[in-house]
Amino acid sequence: MAFSLFSAKARNPVAARCRDDSVTKLRLRYAPYYHAMEGQQGTTVRLDGRDLIMLASNDYLGLSFHPKVIEAARAALLRWGTSPTGARVSNGSRAYHLELEEKLAAFLGKEACHVHAAGYLSCLSGVAAFAQKGDYILADKNIHSCLWDGVRLSHASVERFSHNNAEDLRAVASSLPADAAKLLVIEGVYSMEGHIAPLPALMEVASEHRLFTVLDDAHGFGVLGRGGRGTSDHFAATDRVDIICGSMSKALASTGGFVAGDKALIEYLRTHGKHTIFSAALSPSQAAAASAALDVLQTEPEHIERLWKNQKRYIAMLRSLGLDTWGSETPAVPVVLGDKMRCYAFWQALREKGVFTVMSIAPAVPPGKDLIRTAISAGHTDEQLDRIGDAFAYAVKRC
Ligand SMILES: Cc1ncc(COP(=O)(O)O)c(C=O)c1O
Repeated sequence: MAFSLFSAKARNPVAARCRDDSVTKLRLRYAPYYHAMEGQQGTTVRLDGRDLIMLASNDYLGLSFHPKVIEAARAALLRWGTSPTGARVSNGSRAYHLELEEKLAAFLGKEACHVHAAGYLSCLSGVAAFAQKGDYILADKNIHSCLWDGVRLSHASVERFSHNNAEDLRAVASSLPADAAKLLVIEGVYSMEGHIAPLPALMEVASEHRLFTVLDDAHGFGVLGRGGRGTSDHFAATDRVDIICGSMSKALASTGGFVAGDKALIEYLRTHGKHTIFSAALSPSQAAAASAALDVLQTEPEHIERLWKNQKRYIAMLRSLGLDTWGSETPAVPVVLGDKMRCYAFWQALREKGVFTVMSIAPAVPPGKDLIRTAISAGHTDEQLDRIGDAFAYAVKRC
């Protein structure tokens, strides 16, 4: 009997489910994701033979082409090779891990820090390592997927509270057993909305109910606070937050992530956090790039100044066109269009005018909040901002 690969696959329910998936079909039809960029230089990307202004990157400070960052990554490659060779628990830490951790801890105002190969891993571990079965996690309903994964993997019970709503947090915390261990899981800057967490009000509830607080500051680090020390520094609340986790793929122009807190907490993470123990370490060149970017952040304040100057000009332009920016107060700026086909047309019009953005549609955002997700960078020039303004004006007219 002849064996047919196709019919064998057709009988396989997992493959059939994947083939029939509506998101996959939508993507195959319109291809709004996973673009094959042919080149990148600062805030410009090359796609289908055309240079486009990148308005979707998280390289907030525009440091990914900074000469000191590139040189540090190159030197680390030559000194340490390409690989960390495995997990630190068994293969050992390297000097570049320890130096970066010391620097990050000092910068953030925490005793200790642990770096991972991805921000996703850091934020997931920052929750999963500290919570356990029988605990309660109080989570802002808009937290990032990595934090939800941490919540699930911890086996703790979860209670959601309304986004950025301290009164709702208080009501939820009050409804739980007073003597149970409880964790508060929030972001400093919400990546999709660009909202800043109202930390003083949230920390008041955390003190009243003795909540262990985990703050994911992936989008606040390098952007808010004194010299970019992040959201907790912005509110002078670093001492009140137990764990600050985040990513080095945004302002630090690298990849990887960090978890910072008291020495005892970081030691606990290293001995109890499965994702910390059983995962290969941050690579030499990425650690060196992040470390050099952190130095640049502290010695060249002009990058943060430029970022905020660009942010103010960009937001003002969007609002003058009557666009809904969901109240964003940061360089992460959504443009809410409320309907996925309108989003697609808008996204295409921007691309036609040479501006690359990202569509974010339900279920990634709440129903009716379909949006174009954009992020402004210190790397955008005045001339690029003019062109971005023209492109948005064109897209508004078209759509
Ligand atoms: C809020 C937040 N936390 C964590 C991460 C994960 O960071 P990374 O992409 O560097 O793994 C992201 C990524 O976009 C994020 O937006």
